[in-house]
Amino acid sequence: MAYDVPVDKLPQDVHDRNKAIESLREELNAIDFYDQRMHVVVDEELKKIIAHNRDEEKEHAAMLIKWLRKNDPVFDKEFDEHDQV
Ligand SMILES: [Fe+2]
Repeated sequence: MAYDVPVDKLPQDVHDRNKAIESLREELNAIDFYDQRMHVVVDEELKKIIAHNRDEEKEHAAMLIKWLRKNDPVFDKEFDEHDQV
């Protein structure tokens, strides 16, 4: 996991947010890769499997965003404000 400062200086809540953010980054990459692959595959059965897998990664990403909102008040406020638009 990426750290910008000495790891032992960080409190546990920062470590936890780091793990959530890193996990979210991985889920978003997976969504993008599956989306690209789904559009180039010719076999219809494989296309459906890849699309299903892509959409499951979206659920995983949403779960992580929900956790980040719960554990970062500023993140939650920003989502709230942008949900209103
Ligand atoms: Fe996932």
